[in-house]
Amino acid sequence: MAEEEVELEARLQEQESFDPPESFVEQANVSEPAIYEEFEENWPESWERAADLLDWYDDYDTVLDDSDAPFYKWFKEGTLNASHECLDRHLDDRGDEVAIEWVGELGETRTYTYAELHREVNEFAAALRELGVEEDDVVTMYMPMIPELPIAMLACARIGAPHSVVFAGFSADALATRMTSADSEYLVTCDGYYRRGDALEHKAKANEGLDGVDHDVTGIVVDRLGDEYDHPMRDDDHDYGDLVAAQAGAEVEPVERGAEDMLFLMYTSGTTGQPKGVKHTTGGYLSYVSWTSHAVLDVKPEDTYWCAADIGWITGHSYIVYGPLSLGTTSVMYEGTPDYPEKDRMWEIVEDYDVTQLYTAPTAIRAFMKWGKQYPEKRDLSSLRLLGTVGEPINPRAWKWYYKHIGGESCPIVDTWWQTETGGMMITTLPGIGTMKPGSAGPPLPGIGAEIVDTNGDEVGAGRAGYLTVDKPWPGMLRTLYKNDERFLSEYWEEYSDPDADEWVYFPEDGAKIDDDGYITVLGRVDDVINVSGHRLGTMEIESAIVGVEGVAEAAVVGGDHDLKGEAVYAYVITEDGYEGDADLEARIIEGVEDAIGPIARPEAVIFTPELPKTRSGKIMRRLLEDIANGDELGDTSTLRNPEVVEDIANKVGE
Ligand code: WT7
Repeated sequence: MAEEEVELEARLQEQESFDPPESFVEQANVSEPAIYEEFEENWPESWERAADLLDWYDDYDTVLDDSDAPFYKWFKEGTLNASHECLDRHLDDRGDEVAIEWVGELGETRTYTYAELHREVNEFAAALRELGVEEDDVVTMYMPMIPELPIAMLACARIGAPHSVVFAGFSADALATRMTSADSEYLVTCDGYYRRGDALEHKAKANEGLDGVDHDVTGIVVDRLGDEYDHPMRDDDHDYGDLVAAQAGAEVEPVERGAEDMLFLMYTSGTTGQPKGVKHTTGGYLSYVSWTSHAVLDVKPEDTYWCAADIGWITGHSYIVYGPLSLGTTSVMYEGTPDYPEKDRMWEIVEDYDVTQLYTAPTAIRAFMKWGKQYPEKRDLSSLRLLGTVGEPINPRAWKWYYKHIGGESCPIVDTWWQTETGGMMITTLPGIGTMKPGSAGPPLPGIGAEIVDTNGDEVGAGRAGYLTVDKPWPGMLRTLYKNDERFLSEYWEEYSDPDADEWVYFPEDGAKIDDDGYITVLGRVDDVINVSGHRLGTMEIESAIVGVEGVAEAAVVGGDHDLKGEAVYAYVITEDGYEGDADLEARIIEGVEDAIGPIARPEAVIFTPELPKTRSGKIMRRLLEDIANGDELGDTSTLRNPEVVEDIANKVGE
């Protein structure tokens, strides 16, 4: 390394706080520090700022109705349509500007202007109607990153049919569970897609999923692979291309939806084996993602903004589709992986399209770091103005690498903490205002109330770890779990609320600590959920897949530290009498997990053990299993019924 560079490296390593560059502040959408007080003093009316970013049909009469807390209602009586907000209202000024810049894995590209996207959304909305989809029918999408996915979402929004997108990497079983839970009678899917240059079949997996659904399902199939794959069509399936062609030029009036009407469902993992159907609404959610895209991602219509997530997760819903399109900007959508065909793929896209903002996950940044700075250095990244991260804690070293090698030390970084349930970002610095501290997400956004408390709900002092809680409602919040108000109350509100005093505190199930200056560092989940590459997986779901495998008596799954993925799945397994913990069983366990959930849940290690460490009351001590997975010193074993087993397992893992 040149001397200069060594010096720079050393300086960066020492530096603990970074101010946003002046050039950024000057042009930032939000740069007045007074915004925090404004929201505080004028709460909840201050949230009109978010609602004002939209073009409502009928005005709302109440900003927040908390009469039935925690079933809050935002912007009551207001009416709007998300497809109108994301398309129609931009047509006059920006009809010929690019809405979606799609980059396929094999290098092919597709560009949709707002006018073109509007046309195809209308045609597909007309087709959905003709197939019988009515307002409030849930339409499931099981699709990879192809333009037809956001088109289908917006077409549903147009006719008031909530969508439920299931990540394409999820298994057939996972699709079946979600369709059954949502009583969804329509499925939009595709024949297959490309990964690292290979065509991957998808339709057979979708069909297998449909075999597990009890009710009839009408299918719509996008032909992504062409002749490469002669996909199996069912009797109830229709070809997407034919449907849209039959509706050429059709126009569908956007349905006027109430602010509180459901825009979509998104299933996510929780403590129990059953995934939770998180319900988001039209008015609150849309204004919230629009506002946070404006204030945090600094999105402007003339930008070329890129969120490198998958639309199958909430990040893609909020910050590839609804947030950016509601603001009329250009949203980049990339089909493939960051290292195909070469490890500079991301930087090539930034260079080719003059990307202005990049929003990605720490797991990706750690991979970029490992590959080396020579890849970004080959490309011109000077178009970038802002960087963001989401999904898991980012370690200061990765933060600084991102800051220096991608941002060229001239882009603020927003480390955004939020969840599927929150709809949009909750804790982060505002890029035009806040000093950044690598590793710490920052203060709660204006109008958001976050506190770190102990098990009694009392605030803990600066520097001490506690539980993150949110003590004020916000427009983007989930309204309930689909058809399960009870679980909504018990999962999120029971822990710290005082219903008798009508005090409601939301518990996201994360641990965190707060500094003297109010900056929050999120430490990670405190429930039985693990975070693999920014994807949330329930240990119970994985365990029930494993015990379903022949020869397995009992299983315990924990998250262990992993350099690239953040956390990885460690499975401790007790075999049934007469079965060996051998390579064959291990392979079947891995297959069982992939079938039940998908390859993302694949165990990093399967450890066969004659016993699991249990307390006297029979509870598995997961903390010890985590220590073992991490090779850490073992915690207290004195409360165990069978302390001797811990050493045995640790020795096995060490082998
Ligand atoms: C969980 C939510 C937010 C969209 C993607 C994940 C963790 C998220 C951060 C961050 C530390 C983070 C939390 C949270 N998380 N962002 N910036 N710093 N942890 O959504 O699947 O609902 O997962 O991801 O543990 O609870 P999700």
